[in-house]
Amino acid sequence: MTERIVLAYSGGLDTSVAIGWIGEATGAEVIAVAVDVGQGGESLETIRQRALGCGAVEAYVADASDEFANEYCMPTLKANGLYQGHYPLVSAISRPVIVKHLVKAAREFGATTVAHGCTGKGNDQVRFEVGIQTLGPDLKCIAPVRDLALTRDKAIAFAEEKGLPIETTKKNPYSIDQNVWGRAVETGYLEDIWNGPTKDIYDYTATPEFPPAPDEVIISFEAGIPVAIDGVKVTPLQAIKELNRRAGAQGVGRIDVVEDRLVGIKSREIYEAPGAMALITAHKHLEDITVEREQARFKATVGQRWSELVYDGQWFSPLKRSLEAFIEDTQKYVSGDIRMTLHGGQAVVNGRRSDTSLYDFNLATYDTGDTFDQSMAKGFIELWGMSAKVASGRDIRVAGK
Ligand code: ARG
Repeated sequence: MTERIVLAYSGGLDTSVAIGWIGEATGAEVIAVAVDVGQGGESLETIRQRALGCGAVEAYVADASDEFANEYCMPTLKANGLYQGHYPLVSAISRPVIVKHLVKAAREFGATTVAHGCTGKGNDQVRFEVGIQTLGPDLKCIAPVRDLALTRDKAIAFAEEKGLPIETTKKNPYSIDQNVWGRAVETGYLEDIWNGPTKDIYDYTATPEFPPAPDEVIISFEAGIPVAIDGVKVTPLQAIKELNRRAGAQGVGRIDVVEDRLVGIKSREIYEAPGAMALITAHKHLEDITVEREQARFKATVGQRWSELVYDGQWFSPLKRSLEAFIEDTQKYVSGDIRMTLHGGQAVVNGRRSDTSLYDFNLATYDTGDTFDQSMAKGFIELWGMSAKVASGRDIRVAGK
């Protein structure tokens, strides 16, 4: 029986060519797998037809946008997941959901190998292949760009020679990956890290220089998950989309960073994630009033470690699962409303309310109604400083000898 390979298929030039390229190099039949993670653009049906037109024996297409929002974006929100404090893990969280569908398709169509279009320099190859190793340990992996010398020039020549139903003339100098959680743009002119991004790079966000009138929004959360916007019930996917639209119109969520890839390279990336950044900001502010101080401090560390694991392709790892058990426990009381103003590239919180809040007006107030006994502070400070005071006494004693 002819061997079968499932290919993570985007509908773009490189993966379209990869169908025939893999076929010629290996003699295997190729099954194209396209997964909708809210990237917009062409319909799944258009993509399916193109895959078949490019020589795929079967095309598996899946609308995973709700699955992606619920099971990948929401855990990222609960963790306030920002790699290196900046990057909301846009591409990193989409790979594991694509992997799930690749493995499912491999089972359905009897494939022995999984293929993806990543290069040998990035994080995504790691995320795909570590994910495959975990969910389908019997499956082999192949990356035509990395393993079968499929360069851009060869891809264009191949597509023209075979008359593939794909455009080869549209020249985009950037490498772009996008989904409902955000958009990542790299390469080309951006590789000089002194070059500022030009306007044409952005798609999810409008220029914040000439913003429309400020937009005030109320986001309601239940146990860390957005459940309503301005009082209208929403699913996680709807919440992200609505805030992509409204925060995007105000230029919120533009990020320009040089980040540490897992493979040891520092690389420049431009992100735009208006919905994700507005939600993370709101969520963090709600945690500020609902999560106890020590839990909150520790959670910041846990969230950072969680983000590193996810960035590094360890979505299915036991440590990530354990950290999530902690994070989940902290979200129990993260319910309530956050009011924020979206304007001029910023999402600024200006009001919060929650039935599970730890904010105690009578403890906090400097006005009448104060229930805090200030006389307690004196002794507390005495003891709190004792350890350092003893140590500094010792320093002086030793230095004096
Ligand atoms: N650097 C980011 C990451 O590793 C995004 C990579 C996405 N790919 C792209 N072509 N921009 O998660």
